[in-house]
Amino acid sequence: MPREHWTLEEFPFHPERLLHLETLMTLGNGYLATRGSFEEGYAGSMPTTMVHGIFDHAPGMLVPELVNAPNWLPIHITVDGTPFQLVNPNDVSLTPKEGALLGYRRVLHLKQGVLRRECLFRAESGSIVRLVFERFPSLHDVHVLAQRVQIIAVDGEPEIVVEAFIEQQVTNAGVNHWTAVQSGSENQVVSVQMKTGQSGYSLGMASQLVSQTPVEIVMDSAQQRPVMRTSFKLNREESAELVKLSAIYTSRDVEHPLNAAVAKVYEAVATGYAKLLHDHQAEWFKYWDSSDIVIEGDETSQFALRFVMYHILIAAPRHDDDVSIGAKTLSGLGYKGHVFWDTELFILPPLTLTQPALARNLLMYRYHRLAGARNKAKANGFEGAMYPWESTDTGEETTPQWSDVQPDGSRIRIWTGDSEQHICTDIAYAILQYWRWTGDDAFLQQHGAEMVLDTAVFWGSRVEWKAEHNRYEISQQIGPDEYHENIDNSVFTNRMVVWHLGAALKLLDRLKAHAPADADRLTRALDLNPARLAKWNDIIAKMYIPFDEAERRHIQFPGFFDMEFIPVPHYQPRTASVQAILGHARSIQTQVIKQADVVMLMALLGDELAPHDVLVNNWNTYYPRTDHGSSLSPAMHAWVAAMLGLNEEAYDEFEHAAAIDLQDNKGNVRDGIHGAASGGVIQAVLFGFCGLKIDDAGQLTATPRLPAHWKSVSFTVYYRGRRRHFTVRNPVVETPLA
Ligand code: BGC
Repeated sequence: MPREHWTLEEFPFHPERLLHLETLMTLGNGYLATRGSFEEGYAGSMPTTMVHGIFDHAPGMLVPELVNAPNWLPIHITVDGTPFQLVNPNDVSLTPKEGALLGYRRVLHLKQGVLRRECLFRAESGSIVRLVFERFPSLHDVHVLAQRVQIIAVDGEPEIVVEAFIEQQVTNAGVNHWTAVQSGSENQVVSVQMKTGQSGYSLGMASQLVSQTPVEIVMDSAQQRPVMRTSFKLNREESAELVKLSAIYTSRDVEHPLNAAVAKVYEAVATGYAKLLHDHQAEWFKYWDSSDIVIEGDETSQFALRFVMYHILIAAPRHDDDVSIGAKTLSGLGYKGHVFWDTELFILPPLTLTQPALARNLLMYRYHRLAGARNKAKANGFEGAMYPWESTDTGEETTPQWSDVQPDGSRIRIWTGDSEQHICTDIAYAILQYWRWTGDDAFLQQHGAEMVLDTAVFWGSRVEWKAEHNRYEISQQIGPDEYHENIDNSVFTNRMVVWHLGAALKLLDRLKAHAPADADRLTRALDLNPARLAKWNDIIAKMYIPFDEAERRHIQFPGFFDMEFIPVPHYQPRTASVQAILGHARSIQTQVIKQADVVMLMALLGDELAPHDVLVNNWNTYYPRTDHGSSLSPAMHAWVAAMLGLNEEAYDEFEHAAAIDLQDNKGNVRDGIHGAASGGVIQAVLFGFCGLKIDDAGQLTATPRLPAHWKSVSFTVYYRGRRRHFTVRNPVVETPLA
């Protein structure tokens, strides 16, 4: 598919890949995103627009979810009475029942955030038209949604009828979140106002169709919605242009979303499509100016890298620090829009380095949810802040306790919300990484430190003292490897807690030296008394870190090597996880690992974790046991393999990670982009292949370990407020800014 480095093209039409492409071709602007569904619709399509922060808990559902907003896309066209449709509504694998598709090309322009589709269509009458659709949700003014259709009569003199409307009957795969739906029209603008049932968010959407021919508004009484309709005749080679401009607001933005949406549509119509497009593109160029990473010598990787960065950029909230990015970004219903560690450890670092203001927004989302984290700690009998494994708008734990109903009618208990507690250190890690890169002292002092310290307070109360062993332990955990649940002493968790408490103590010392008022305030508010700090030091000294002295390697958790060994590589080729092949019950009794766990620890702590020989032993132990059952895994392996100089494995895993969404090798891209895998791919390049890091002296350094066929990698990062441009090749050269 990637024909150029900046465009994702579909040519010819691939009806069998509609839902995969619908996800890949998602457009967004950090406020909302809309999947690449067609204006005319098709059976099985999942037209989805999700606005950050609009969650709702529908009756009968286990947990809240991000709500599918009204669909702003519909534009239905008939040519001499033949409805323009690419897919037979009764069978997605067939071409249209009436009329014929003679030519097709769809292009997602990553550089400008625009989706274009050209179709050559023959009506039953024999008339042939070329239809060119273009659309974008504005990055310049995130409430504006713009569409344009050009209709060119190639043969015949067709009668054209165009109907445009807002689809208000929308659900999340059948689950309805909207009540009190009201639609209307006034002065050429149609609008809809809706409210979510449980959470009570209001949403207003308005739309106007602009045509050179008169537009009338007719009522579709069956659907109870107003439709904007225009008709005209084209002579051969004559063309017409229609523009549909829509706007959206919610009660998170303004008090009266409907009024705001209507006013915004008038404003957009007055501005005109050309200027809206120009301003939108100009904003995108600004994004790419800092976020583009250029690879010389590998076109496929070049495209893949831009593709993943595009998907992170469209999901990253720009003007809102009270929302965050869910595991599937805003591009699909998977994981219900919930926010996991995926955001802090996978998606955030590329933003910290290239768009620090956006990274700060995402960290502030966690700051605003400290109350929820404190509630969770308290409810579980602990002190401090214990962040939820899955988070939504409220900040409360929203991991479902039970799975959906399985084929045999049973439900499986989900333990991650109880036991995957490493999320607390993950957030602290992201905050301190952001601070080290940006030098944003104001953020650290006013917001970041409180989160790092109060999650440290949590760990101080969470660890268990085992007098018989003279050590601290942590029982009942799930590490990154979720195949092994409720284990004691996950090496990932225990070691990261040691890192966390050490970082918290250093942070407090720094505050005392440079921001004594903040140090005082936090010491009082979080009760950072001497006994508590002494305990943190004691935990650092006496935490149990499972380690095999004879083999000089970390042990994922005690007992791990007593389980059955399964040679995971022997199961190739496969599309299913080894867990799925062996079955859940058996695989949990084996050494099969879902995803980078000890390897993740190596990525996060590098040389600080252990001497080189231990890191190599860890790799040799855990790599062949990992089945990459999670999309988060391959990119972390690419990074660590590069770090260890294992060039072949590094490139293999990088390719694997980069293909997850583009090739849909897990078969679930219809549910949304794998946001963490996307961020991981970028980290594999920057931290793995380019060896980018801040050394102990605070200098930014790069250690090239590029794949053999890559000539160079060039990128821009912000380091302590300064833009730094790197071209990494052998040897590394820092080039001056143009
Ligand atoms: C992974 C988790 C991840 C979650 C959401 C799970 O399959 O094991 O690490 O946070 O998916 O992406």
